[in-house]
Amino acid sequence: MVQSCGSEPQDDETSSLWTETFHKFVDIKANGPSSIGADLCLHGFSHAYGLPEHADSLQLADTRGGEPYRLYNLDVFAYDVPSRLGLYGSVPLLVAHKPDRTLAVFWLNASETFVNLRYSSADPQEDEVLARTTRLQPETDVHWLSESGVIDSLVLLGPSPQEVFHQYAQLTGYQALPPLFALGYHQCRWNYEDEADVKAVDAGFDRHRIPYDVIWLDIEHTDGKRYFTWDPVRFPEPAQLQKYLGWKNRKLVVISDPHIKTDPEWSLYREARDRGHLVKTRDGDLFKGSCWPGESCYLDFSSPDTRAWYSSCFGLEKYKGSTPLLYLWNDMNEPSVFCGPEQTMPKDAVHHGGWEHRELHNLYGFYQHGATAQGLIQRSGGKERPFVLSRSFFAGSQRFGAVWTGDNVASWEYLKVSIPMLLSLNVTGVGFCGADVGGFFRDPDPELLLRWYQAAALQPFFRNHCALWSKRREPWLFGDEVTAAIRRVIRERYCLLPYWYTLFYQAHTSGLPPLRPLWVEFPKEQNTFTVDSQYMIGGALLASPVTEPGVQEVDVFLPGVDEVWYDISSKEAYEGGRTLTLPVTLSTVPVFQRAGSVVCRSTESGSCTAQLQSFPLSITVALNSQGAADGELYLDDGHSFDYRDESSFRLRRFSVRAGRLLCRPGSEDGTFDCDTCVESLIVLGLKSKPSTVTVHMSGTKDSPAKFQYMESSSSLTVSDLKLRVSQDWDVHMG
Ligand code: NOJ
Repeated sequence: MVQSCGSEPQDDETSSLWTETFHKFVDIKANGPSSIGADLCLHGFSHAYGLPEHADSLQLADTRGGEPYRLYNLDVFAYDVPSRLGLYGSVPLLVAHKPDRTLAVFWLNASETFVNLRYSSADPQEDEVLARTTRLQPETDVHWLSESGVIDSLVLLGPSPQEVFHQYAQLTGYQALPPLFALGYHQCRWNYEDEADVKAVDAGFDRHRIPYDVIWLDIEHTDGKRYFTWDPVRFPEPAQLQKYLGWKNRKLVVISDPHIKTDPEWSLYREARDRGHLVKTRDGDLFKGSCWPGESCYLDFSSPDTRAWYSSCFGLEKYKGSTPLLYLWNDMNEPSVFCGPEQTMPKDAVHHGGWEHRELHNLYGFYQHGATAQGLIQRSGGKERPFVLSRSFFAGSQRFGAVWTGDNVASWEYLKVSIPMLLSLNVTGVGFCGADVGGFFRDPDPELLLRWYQAAALQPFFRNHCALWSKRREPWLFGDEVTAAIRRVIRERYCLLPYWYTLFYQAHTSGLPPLRPLWVEFPKEQNTFTVDSQYMIGGALLASPVTEPGVQEVDVFLPGVDEVWYDISSKEAYEGGRTLTLPVTLSTVPVFQRAGSVVCRSTESGSCTAQLQSFPLSITVALNSQGAADGELYLDDGHSFDYRDESSFRLRRFSVRAGRLLCRPGSEDGTFDCDTCVESLIVLGLKSKPSTVTVHMSGTKDSPAKFQYMESSSSLTVSDLKLRVSQDWDVHMG
């Protein structure tokens, strides 16, 4: 049987267990039929999460009478919502939670996998019978089934959500610490036409005073979809273009897919072919599929040699027209094979070491992502942190960079589902993730676009992107009112970056996800277990983005019976343990700060993150009922590995006790030499006006500070401070 796209089955092979026919595709199983499975019963649990990627609710559904969760990385354009079918990436980690324990089951298998779930409480009638007979507690049955491989499964015992995240990070790796610019705003479309177009869009951000850090080029930037090349007419001076952007401290990202045009005239193809870096058929020929360039071969990233070679292709000498300001985007890496079964690679294609594709399918994109990140690290001599976005992923992809939720659609239901999709990724270790702002396919109306910006500005990876056929979508194309509202959310995102960056440092060192379902912060409160329209950003901020059209009010659930929450816009305090009905306008973004927390913001947004680093900070302290609050701030140069190799970072801890705010070293503190200062301080929930506010710093005389107290909101604002965050100091509110 010849294994290439769309070959016809042969009669003698169709009925046997050793071959399987799907439409016109025949899968020949070199090692015969196989599958492995396991049933687990999670006693006492009635809530399970994780198993991305699915366009579905945060809490995994009972699959009785429906589809199982499928883990099989596929290129699904404009995927259905809701759906448990496989999407671009897979993380075979199921997290179960009950008030006194969180645990996780990691099923380490990269072949096609199905997971069935059965909650004992899904059928009340059955439950009643069970309760009368044997089971007094709820339970969740989980059935794992994989096409091949061995059973390699671990149960992570927690018992807290934080411990589960830590245990999982120890197994699969911690979130890479992104360069700071990667947490800024990204502007993409398929495609920015040419160098003039890129410069015009770049200038548009300056003209409209909207901060941004990165502009992206899709497949049309290449010479005939040959990655690592540039279209000579549209992008004749790529290095100059990067220099131009770099002069404003901005970056360029280009796409690099795993398919390689079968063009014997092209040196990269020849090199890949001659050095054995391409996937083969079961007969030992080159596997030929099709993708954007037409007939293509596929790099065999499962081979360490291929990965090393691929990494070297990002070397500045080798990748003509690239500079250190160029970063990467790996797309179509499920891999997408237009003429393949389910638009992917046939399972009997053969990889390095003779492994069939079926064994490692879900790892294909993971390997490309890792090799690209490694290439960027290498090109800087190991000095600079990479940024690579990948569409496909697996357990551990967090070590390499960011992922996004693929080809979503410009409609409200996709905006809504982006929240549980990103939360599912976060509880399974993949913290740096986002969804295309506005929806990839079709055109959002201005209201949807604005609401999408508001939501995405409060999510880790923040990129506007759309399809070739979609209308232009730069933030200033929808009228002054919308432009002003988008400007505001992007600026607020930039101001909050010191907090986001600190959360990423925590994810990098402790495994705690930046985005957290409410139950992670309120593990004992049953009524948080199914919330998937709201989430916590770190431990301090609760976000409840508006995801409905035409609304004048929204319901926001504020967890914690003993909690107090401060609306970050109005500074008003609300008690927790209830649902608040909040009037909203088009520009309202409901975000609340939790009492007992400290959040650091930049006082200005600037035009990009590099500028942001030079601005002073403002600290917002939200006091709890004991008058206490705690928070951290992480700082480093924002781009190199010096934080790791030279301890060149600062981790500062802010705590308020008995009317004193202390700035001290965090659990570990490095030597990063920075003169970032705290300029102002806002204290929420201060019951009475202090008679004085004094700054105390060792080695200097105590000095009085300028302050203003607002009785109506019980808030204190201390201004005109100049407190270096790298020094120890106290502010007494006496
Ligand atoms: C599919 C990706 O999901 C999309 O983001 C990209 O624009 C197109 N491929 C073209 O490269």
